[in-house]
This record gives sequence, structure tokens and C-alpha cells, in this order.
Amino acid sequence: MKIPVDIAVTGAAGQISYSLLFRLAGGAFLGPDQPFVLRLLEVPAAMDALKGVLMELNDCAYPLLQKVITTSDPKVAFDNVDYAFLIGAKPRGPGMERRDLLECNAEIFSVQGKALNEVASRNVKVLVTGNPANTNALIAMSNAPDLRPECFTAMTMLDHNRAISQLAEKCGVRSREIKNVAIWGNHSATQYPDLHHAKVKGQDALSLVGEDWFVDDFIPTVQQRGAAIIKARGQSSAASAANAAIGHMKAWARGTEEGDWVSMAIPSDGSYGIEEGLVYSYPVTVNGGEISIVHGLDINAFSRKRMDITETELKEERDAVRHLL
Ligand code: NAD
Ligand code: LMR
Repeated sequence: MKIPVDIAVTGAAGQISYSLLFRLAGGAFLGPDQPFVLRLLEVPAAMDALKGVLMELNDCAYPLLQKVITTSDPKVAFDNVDYAFLIGAKPRGPGMERRDLLECNAEIFSVQGKALNEVASRNVKVLVTGNPANTNALIAMSNAPDLRPECFTAMTMLDHNRAISQLAEKCGVRSREIKNVAIWGNHSATQYPDLHHAKVKGQDALSLVGEDWFVDDFIPTVQQRGAAIIKARGQSSAASAANAAIGHMKAWARGTEEGDWVSMAIPSDGSYGIEEGLVYSYPVTVNGGEISIVHGLDINAFSRKRMDITETELKEERDAVRHLL
């Protein structure tokens, strides 16, 4: 049996966590031979609800789950953690954009960045899901100067999966027959879901679906999917978000598939002309736990324009939280 690893989940009594924790504890993230300790963070007002989640986790008698720690102290939650799922944050309601959450959520990521800086493993892998995810990740990273910026990522895997699913449905194929879709930029309505490099059963996706569907249907559907779910469900996506969080962390910990990539928002190194330091979503591959941006993709004028629009929004969000950076 391997040595147990420590996994922190924030917002552990929330709706995403309720879908996430039971899959995590069942081994969906690190596989069937990796034991772990779960460190669950909640605000004091939600500790009772978290007690109920803990009872349910215990009642599953998961063989890999060594221990569950529940706390409202970030330094206890992040003590020596190898993986941190930062989910705890307010979700948006109907009619809001994700950036409208900056004011109420930004402070959370400043506090948690500092705590991670003090007590987490120096190789911690942090996934920010709480919205606006890219800028919250930037805040956490900026408040953790002793951790490498590469320790911080934000989630665009849900957008990536949405893009695959839309394309698969349009082409009448299974999702596993789709490769190389890419999400560029912000997890917001300005994101650019790109099909210029995508393949459907090895064939060029754009030539199959046509430019009009790509521009008039596909892009707005993926960009607006979160809002469409809120409208239909009255609450933001939860199970699909939890699924994407597991997919993101699994790809990071265990690598991406040969011949394909995933999308992750990571601190930009200036690739594709994006300002260094912004947490921008790129197509990436992962090997040995190291994330690498996919280089050398042709970017035409249409794509350039969309990549710049979403970069501009990220700069605006960053400028709105300068006091926390
Ligand atoms: P929720 O309201 O059901 O749960 C959030 C939980 O976080 C609550 O239990 C709350 O008490 C807790 N919390 C608040 N502040 C905290 C803090 N400082 N420390 C620890 N816990 C704290 O919300 P949800 O539906 O689970 O969504 C959580 C976040 O994820 C929202 O911001 C939502 O917009 C975002 N989200 C992101 C994506 C994505 O693709 N990046 C997808 C879906 C949802
Ligand atoms: C999503 O994309 O479903 C989440 O970011 C929730 C939201 O506010 O849209």
C-alpha cells in the first residue's frame, strides 16, 4: 500500500462538494491503490451541515479513506496538503456574470493563498473552482509567494467537456472520438472555445461542422452554458462541475492521453502573446505532474481576436482586485 496523501476540499458542505467528495473517496481521482486523508474546510455556520456529510462519508466505509478532518481553520485544512480543491465560494444567480462575484469571493482566496503559503506541501497542486475562478486563482497565487506559481490552476475543464459534448452531438459520434478541442482565456462568457485544431474520428472538425455552426451555435452555447443551467435548474452546475474538477486533477496528477490535450487555466508564461502572470486557459499536456502549454498551434485572425477579448477581461478583473495581489 502507498503512503497516504492529503487532499483538501473547501466549501465541503456545498453542492459541488456533495457530488465531488463521494467520487474522490471512492478512488476516482488517484486510483484504487492510493490511500488518502480528506481535510474538509467550511465556514463556521456550515459546520453542522458538514457533520452530516462526514457521517455519510463514514457510512460508505471507503477502503482508501484513512481519515477525515473537518475544520473552519484554513491552516488546519491545508496542513501539508498535496492537493487542494478550492471550491468554497458564493455561486452566481440568474442575471449575474461570474465577475460580479469578485467583490464577495476575492477575499476568501487571499486568506486561503496565505494559509497555503504557510502550511501546504511545497509541491501542492491547487485547483480553483470558486468563481470567478481564473482571477481567484491569481489572488491565491499572489498571496503565496513561497510556492511556485505553477502550483496554482483554475478550472476550465467543464468548458472543455461542454465543447466536446456539443461537437460529439453535432457529429453523431461518441465523446471519446473527439480530440484536441481547446478553451482559451477566462472561465466566463468571453472564453474562446476553439475548434480549429479539433478532430472528429481523426477528421478536421471545422470542415465537418462548417464555420456558421461554429460561430453562431457552438461558441455561444459553450460560453453561455453555465447561465443556461442556472436558468433551468435555479442553481449553478454542480455534478458536472465536480466531474470536471476530478478530471482536471486526475489529468494533473496522472497525465494526459497520448495524442490529446486538456484545457487548464494556468499562470501565463507569455505564450501566444498573452500577458505573463495572468491565469489564462490554454490547451495543455501533463507529464510527470508537470503541465506544458501546447505550442506551435496556428492562430488565425478570428482566433486572435477572441483570444485577445478574453485576455482583456482578465486584465480588467485583475485590475479590480489589485489591492489583494
Ligand atoms: P454552494 O453555495 O453550494 O457551496 C459553497 C460552499 O462554500 C458553502 O457551503 C459555503 O459555506 C462554503 N464557503 C463559503 N466561503 C468559504 C470559505 N471561506 N471557506 C470554506 N468554505 C466556504 O456553491 P457551489 O454550487 O458548490 O459552487 C461553489 C463555487 O464554484 C461557486 O463560486 C460557483 O460559481 C463555482 N463554480 C465554478 C465552476 C467552474 O467551472 N469553474 C463550475 C460550477 C461552479
Ligand atoms: C458553470 O460554468 O456552470 C459555473 O461557472 C457556474 C456558473 O456561474 O455558470
